[in-house]
Amino acid sequence: MKILMVCLGNICRSPLAEGIMKAKSKKYNIDISVDSAGTAAYHVDEMPDPRSIEVARKNGIDITDQRARKFKTEDFHHFDRIYAMDESNYYDLAAQTQTDHEKEKLDMILNVTHPGQNKPVPDPYYGGKDGFDNVFAMLDNACEKIAQEIADLHQAK
Ligand code: 4NP
Repeated sequence: MKILMVCLGNICRSPLAEGIMKAKSKKYNIDISVDSAGTAAYHVDEMPDPRSIEVARKNGIDITDQRARKFKTEDFHHFDRIYAMDESNYYDLAAQTQTDHEKEKLDMILNVTHPGQNKPVPDPYYGGKDGFDNVFAMLDNACEKIAQEIADLHQAK
């Protein structure tokens, strides 16, 4: 299973989602690969935002080896699931799908914990540090659920 986390800049939200999901894969001993990307190229090759690095570190996760990259349409071939952080990311990605199969790979990540509600992970870039704690908590819940579901699928086999 290959999972891609997508936000706008790939420096705040999706690097946290990637780091948290990788930590959950260890916790649940599931065989997944995880990556992240941004729909915009503003920060390509940059490290995650220092505030994301800090909130991850506080929670025992090191994301300093990540570098921002821009989403590419081939990602729809490579990945099995693509999680958008907000509606804007979702529609940007949906516009790049070519088949229903590709569209089925795409969802907003908080639909995992709040099915059908299309709740966004708020962009913390221009906000204070509380924003990053809030984002971490939301993503931690969603990634926990994703990992549990994958672990259950493995067991059912
Ligand atoms: P992200 O946050 O999409 O969670 O990485 C942002 C990062 C940079 C910008 C906007 C959002 N920006 O406008 O540069």
